[in-house]
Amino acid sequence: MSNLIEIKGLTKEFPIGNSTFLKKRAVFKAVHGVFLTIKRGEIVGLIGESGSGKSTIGRMALRLIEPSGGSIIYDGKDITKLNHKEMMGYYQKMQIIFQDSASSFNPRKTIGEQIVTPMLRLGVARSRKEAEMDVYHLLERVGLKREHFVRYPHEFSGGQRQRIGIARALALKPEFLVLDEPTSALDVSIQAQILNLLLDLQEEFNLTYLFIGHNLSIIKFFCDRVAVLYKGRLVEVADSDRLYTNPFHPVSRMLLNSVLTLDKKPLADDLSENTAKINRNTGCVFSGKCLYATELCFEAHPEMEVLSANHQYACYNPQNVEETQEQLVTL
Ligand SMILES: Nc1ncnc2c1ncn2[C@@H]1O[C@H](COP(=O)(O)OP(=O)(O)OP(=O)(O)O)[C@@H](O)[C@H]1O
Ligand SMILES: [Mg+2]
Repeated sequence: MSNLIEIKGLTKEFPIGNSTFLKKRAVFKAVHGVFLTIKRGEIVGLIGESGSGKSTIGRMALRLIEPSGGSIIYDGKDITKLNHKEMMGYYQKMQIIFQDSASSFNPRKTIGEQIVTPMLRLGVARSRKEAEMDVYHLLERVGLKREHFVRYPHEFSGGQRQRIGIARALALKPEFLVLDEPTSALDVSIQAQILNLLLDLQEEFNLTYLFIGHNLSIIKFFCDRVAVLYKGRLVEVADSDRLYTNPFHPVSRMLLNSVLTLDKKPLADDLSENTAKINRNTGCVFSGKCLYATELCFEAHPEMEVLSANHQYACYNPQNVEETQEQLVTL
């Protein structure tokens, strides 16, 4: 499988506070040197605590917000510096679905009209008639009816609105979709329906997904590989099954523990002694909370170690290394 997306050293800084004439404006680094490759047809999950930078990465990958550093390679082409006009073809190929995708619809226009307009603008349909036919077909494909074409956004339920968002994205014939917590606002029963729909569509249209989420059981069932983010840094990337059975990084273990063993304390609980030692500028971002931190962890952030093609981690004291190396030898 060829690489569809290569994220190379992606960084995002947001300005904080006010700049004065003499003092340079302070910045907050929301994303810090992230490398991630997504193959064509693959579903990669991005997980991490709230505020860890997941949506920022997703939006930068689509160039909806500009990176402060690093590059995005789409199908072999560096798109980081392309201007708006040069990006037009890529805006069509890359779409995003977020929690309530239909909230960005204009409440005073029918949903059909709003799906057709960008199709004509981006040239994915040759005529209005053709665009309308495509939309009728798509509405049915996502579980709605062609009569819904002339309805207004407020006439739909949460699940239906998400289906409309999916239809709008697919109408542009994309290759790559960022799914930014697409089901977190929905009831559990509806969540499953939408996730199954997304999986069917992925296969049918040979789509590539970056799936952002919190719910780890969903991610396990949905994704081929998972990338774990902590405070803007990737700390582990592994095949879904491997990450669930053999997480190396304490952050991955913490995220898994917090759902798998509710009676067990997560690793990040009450570690005030370490917090006092943390050196925010140089040490590992997790060192202040990590039970396994050693002196080195407070001095420099660890580089990504490549254990195998499908497993990388950034930690000086990974927890399952011996077990796994034994397993690898016996394989
Ligand atoms: N436009 C902005 N200006 C300033 N700070 C921002 C901006 N957008 C995001 N941030 C900050 O960057 C960090 C990462 O935000 P982001 O939305 O990417 O997190 P997330 O992992 O998607 O969180 P959640 O799970 O809550 O959606 C947060 O601390 C957030 O406050
Ligand atoms: Mg987010």
